[in-house]
Amino acid sequence: MIPPDQVDEIHRAVRIEEVVGEFVMLKKRGANYIGLCPFHNEKTPSFTVSATKGIFKCFGCGKAGNAVGFLMDHLHITYPEALRWLANKYNISIKERELSDEEKKSLTEKESILILLKFAAQHYQNNLFETDEGKSVALSYLYERGLEEHIIREFGLGYSLNDKRGFTQSALQAQFSKRYLIKSGQCLYKTEYHESEIPETEDAIDAQFLIDRFQARIMFPIHDESGRVLGFGGRNLSADKNLAKYVNSPESPVYHKSEVLYGLYQAKKHIIKENASILAEGYMDVIALHQHGLRNAVASSGTSLTEGQVRKLHRFCEKVIIAFDGDDAGKKAAERAVPMLLEEGLMVYRVSFPDNHDPDSFAKAFGREALLRHIVQNTHDFLEYYVYENKDFLMRGPIERSSFIGKMASWIALIPNDIRRTLYIQELSKKLGIGEEVIQTEVTRLRKEWIKSKIIKEQSPSVLPEIAPNYDNQKHPIEILPVSHADESEILRLLLLYGNMVMEEEFTDPLTGQTQTKQMTLAEFVLEYMSIEQLMFNDPLHMKIFSLYYNNLTEKGFTGLEYFMNFPDDDVRGFITNHVIKNHEVSENWKKFNIHIADELSLSVKALKKSLQSLKEKIISQIIASLKNELKNENLDENEATILLHKIRVLEKERIEINKNLGRSGIKYIPES
Ligand code: CTP
Ligand code: MN
Repeated sequence: MIPPDQVDEIHRAVRIEEVVGEFVMLKKRGANYIGLCPFHNEKTPSFTVSATKGIFKCFGCGKAGNAVGFLMDHLHITYPEALRWLANKYNISIKERELSDEEKKSLTEKESILILLKFAAQHYQNNLFETDEGKSVALSYLYERGLEEHIIREFGLGYSLNDKRGFTQSALQAQFSKRYLIKSGQCLYKTEYHESEIPETEDAIDAQFLIDRFQARIMFPIHDESGRVLGFGGRNLSADKNLAKYVNSPESPVYHKSEVLYGLYQAKKHIIKENASILAEGYMDVIALHQHGLRNAVASSGTSLTEGQVRKLHRFCEKVIIAFDGDDAGKKAAERAVPMLLEEGLMVYRVSFPDNHDPDSFAKAFGREALLRHIVQNTHDFLEYYVYENKDFLMRGPIERSSFIGKMASWIALIPNDIRRTLYIQELSKKLGIGEEVIQTEVTRLRKEWIKSKIIKEQSPSVLPEIAPNYDNQKHPIEILPVSHADESEILRLLLLYGNMVMEEEFTDPLTGQTQTKQMTLAEFVLEYMSIEQLMFNDPLHMKIFSLYYNNLTEKGFTGLEYFMNFPDDDVRGFITNHVIKNHEVSENWKKFNIHIADELSLSVKALKKSLQSLKEKIISQIIASLKNELKNENLDENEATILLHKIRVLEKERIEINKNLGRSGIKYIPES
């Protein structure tokens, strides 16, 4: 247990932007930081971190909290684990007392497996450096392949002995549970003839049927981005063709392969610094690249590249250099990776290696200087790369050329950034000597088709993401309530028209109880209000405009309304025409009735506050409705029902309060014509 005064010390040391910054690439925007939300899938940032308040908040999915909460949610760890993580980061040594046997028992399954895997990594490392077999067979092999001791240690490489139970026995001796030996993937449970199910109780698991999954292999521990070992890749040493070259840990309660990038732990801070990562194919490639100073290299581990891995990369950088093997398999894998990375909104580059080399073998064959030179000289953005790679193919004739253009157009169509997409269209047109409009038309068609297919695939009722606490979607499907979007669009309208306007806001300091006035722009006011009240937009288009607005707000020359009126996406322009311009004309009419500009602005502020309140009221209503729905469930016990009723009552009270305020506000409201 961590003593309370040390808990305080940790809390004082924490800078939330530094903590979140370990996992998300943050950019400064005014007093806050923004980045891509690690809790939901997004391409334009709606995740904000307030350094002064010490909190984070996502406007897309609603997640919010402080640094400890962030770590607990993001790393799926417990409160004490989060504190320990922070203590480690801020070099605070905690004088923890030993866990009692009771406490040890109550460690969760995940925690237990993580402890076991840490033990395993140490065990294999010890085999490599301290046993005769490890030194003579494995360490010499790694040296022979050109790895140096410091990098072997940094990546935690190890060796599993040529022994059926080398690891099993030492883990059993150290009192690890048999169940977790199996669940972690470290051991296979082999009864005489077949691999069987794990028996229900610990006692019923027969230790003699446990054997090591990894035998006589170089062990590559696979870390998560904060350095915890989740599993292993084990490379075969013998030349026996009947043995698999790699054996990998299976999926487990802690190892979800589709979310893990090999080397990310070691590469993370370099990726953030350079805003770029090198994506390689193999474990050895990653390590070799790191050893030669390319410290931002990672690989997808034991699977082909997944969407989850791509999303994870995007949280740390905007550029990815694909550095796959030069063989056909590598080329094919790259052609699969390019569209995935483009779709995620990343800038995609490609470097290839000659004569079936991979980065590791190239470095071994030609040396460090040649490797660095090769990468610098041969990294090109994807379009340039593929045009060059296909230059002979393109010479053949119109059929080949048109099929190539079709493929490039289908990739370009995936790029979410409109400016970038347009520039690639121009580039393709120039390179292939074909009219820009033709490509533009094709890209637009493909993009529409693709968006349509996406919408069909992703039709998910995501109206109430995580507002209702402990709400189990599976058990009681949420009734989706029709939400009027009028308030959301009204807020946007006022933002776009008057966002820069400076207003004076009175507020009461919760600590001193004193009332103060503060000057801020309307845009700042909305952002602050929404984050304090934890409000968010339901409508994806509204959300998109809202994030675009705040993303661009501090850019030089940002013109608000004009920016959106000239925006390439139809839906955005449509919104502006229908909701902003039209109503703006209405407000222009105010002048006719001798309403002064100042009045108009002050009316706007009032109208804005009203809309914000009204939005809050709607969200509360939704939560109440979903809680009431939950109350209908017959399986609730009395306790749960009481808690639900209490929650409903608290929310009802708040709703009544808001309605009272709204009713009393007496603001003249000019109705839409
Ligand atoms: N891989 C795997 N299982 C296999 C083969 C490959 O999981 N049977 C994965 C591993 O993550 C491996 C990557 O695919 O690192 C690339 O495979 P490959 O290029 O064959 O291996 P290298 O890592 O380059 O290994 P080496 O250089 O030692 O041959
Ligand atoms: Mn290799």
